[in-house]
Amino acid sequence: MKKEDLIERSIEMRKKAYVPYSKFPVGAAVLTKSGKVYTGCNIENAAYPVSLCAERVAIFKAVSDGETEFVEMAVSADTKRPVSPCGSCRQVMSEFFQPETTIHLTNLQNQLKTVTMEELLPFSFQPDDLPPSL
Ligand code: THU
Repeated sequence: MKKEDLIERSIEMRKKAYVPYSKFPVGAAVLTKSGKVYTGCNIENAAYPVSLCAERVAIFKAVSDGETEFVEMAVSADTKRPVSPCGSCRQVMSEFFQPETTIHLTNLQNQLKTVTMEELLPFSFQPDDLPPSL
């Protein structure tokens, strides 16, 4: 799949965002190793902290469908610079992505910043860091 198509899917997904509080729609699209695309938008809640970001919605939809291996992701928002995923989303990405997995960060001015997982969250806490007994 072309990165432009994955980016387009993420931009399209902003239309589904449930953002009555921030009015800041974000869209995400993640490509699985098996070739499927899962999309996500941010979903907010009147109890603000339980809101969920677009990136995690996309990844959790895939994982709940049995897909845990990913090769590429795109995230889009109407930001001045390419959108920067929050720390919680970076940690969730690092659970499933390889250090070299690419993430395309975009905005509505077609600015694109492509980073690897390792660049987005270096020295991340990994499943391997847990003691073997767990
Ligand atoms: N948000 C995302 O969905 N992804 C990001 O990368 C940045 C922030 C959402 C969370 C909240 O619904 C709104 O944007 C404002 O923070």
